[in-house]
Amino acid sequence: MNESSGMSLIAIANQKGGVGKTTVAMQLGAVLSRRFSVLVVDVDPQQSSVWWAENASDLLPFDFAGSQSPRMLTRVRELDLEYDFVLVDTPGSLEDTEILEAVLDVADFVVVPLTPEPLAVEPTMRTITRLIEPRHLRHSVLLNRIDGRIPNQLTTWRELLDTTLGVPRFDAYLRQYKAHADAPILGQLVTNLGGNRRTERLIADVTRLGHEVAGQFAPALSGRWW
Ligand SMILES: Nc1ncnc2c1ncn2[C@@H]1O[C@H](COP(=O)(O)OP(=O)(O)O)[C@@H](O)[C@H]1O
Ligand SMILES: [Mg+2]
Repeated sequence: MNESSGMSLIAIANQKGGVGKTTVAMQLGAVLSRRFSVLVVDVDPQQSSVWWAENASDLLPFDFAGSQSPRMLTRVRELDLEYDFVLVDTPGSLEDTEILEAVLDVADFVVVPLTPEPLAVEPTMRTITRLIEPRHLRHSVLLNRIDGRIPNQLTTWRELLDTTLGVPRFDAYLRQYKAHADAPILGQLVTNLGGNRRTERLIADVTRLGHEVAGQFAPALSGRWW
């Protein structure tokens, strides 16, 4: 943790592509922005959050810096900018490991999204054991795309993380909703999604994650503050 400022730099990382890094960076950024000052930074050469941010334009509830080099994060630290949270969307391909490592070198915490697919486990564990643990970085796995129609899916995957793999995880998880997949093209974030039964659940999932993340850094604030 950086002692000189209250800023927390959170990397969203997993070397497996398609597990929800961009989704989590943008939606977690939106929910935290209800209470905190937030900067979202995209260092992924594929720039998927840049496109999303452009589509949201005026409705983007946080500051956004796209197409950045990880060196920019060191400057954010040095300038001691007035952000409570800086969230970094990172690349998911093995070719971009250098970029990911540079981000992890300056991060305070890592959110590791994981989809409940057997093929995602090995690359996720490799990211944790080779890149995150050697840096003694606090981290938590976030289960994403949980399908309520599949019996015991959540329980099975929680148990796998807790017992077999022994990695820390969030109690919060994100369910699979089409509205998540539609959000980038529509420029939607939890802060500007219209309310209906589906979106309310999506918003509730992301809000629970926001509370848990904020609670890691500001326990006194983790009660009902939005
Ligand atoms: N909870 C979810 N429900 C439905 N679709 C999702 C969910 N999370 C991610 N997606 C979709 O899955 C795809 C991959 O997600 P993305 O956030 O781009 O992953 P990554 O950044 O790790 O490659 C995208 O099309 C995204 O919209
Ligand atoms: Mg991405």
